[in-house]
Amino acid sequence: MSFTVAIDGPAAAGKGTISRAVAAHFGFAHLDTGLLYRAVGARVLAGEAPLEAAHALVAEDLDADGLRTPEVAQAASRVAALPDVRSALVDFQRAFAARAGGAVLDGRDIGTVICPDAPAKLFVTASAECRATRRYDELRGNGHDVTRDEVLADVIARDKRDSERATAPLIAAEDAVTIDTSDMSIEEAVAAAVAAILSKD
Ligand code: C5P
Repeated sequence: MSFTVAIDGPAAAGKGTISRAVAAHFGFAHLDTGLLYRAVGARVLAGEAPLEAAHALVAEDLDADGLRTPEVAQAASRVAALPDVRSALVDFQRAFAARAGGAVLDGRDIGTVICPDAPAKLFVTASAECRATRRYDELRGNGHDVTRDEVLADVIARDKRDSERATAPLIAAEDAVTIDTSDMSIEEAVAAAVAAILSKD
């Protein structure tokens, strides 16, 4: 039997951390769907056309180094606004969601477009300031030479592009449980997520 957990929300709200913890808690597989768009974005930065890049994507691309940089994030959010690119990535995500044993997918449109029938949907969010601070700490921790203002500007620009695009904009599904992690520790956020999922089980 498959059980899908859909986790959506803006950049750096804690989706990744929560998704990995939730997947470990329930023994489910986890797909960070942002990596699909990042891998396409990286191919486009290397000179490929967006749709060709999306069709050429293979699972191994998701493990490539260098997908977590701000440049690739911006390229990802630009290719993610292209309807053809989004369509090209649907089957991979739905096949992952249907795998036996349960799956957690995190992204922007999992509960609304990719898995509208998922039994458990979360919308994980936090203030832009708070998300910028977390992403800044993470990037600096990984040795990236960025300023906090640059990171805040990146977060705001991606939020705007992700929320305003015509196809699959970032929006909470009507039946999603919203978790605002601004004032929560990681442990509190994970506990809230697990409780919300159990209430749907
Ligand atoms: O989650 P992450 O920051 O890695 O995502 C990178 C970009 O990919 C996002 O800014 C968004 O534009 C796009 N994305 C998307 N739909 C998803 C996951 C990511 O449009 N399901």
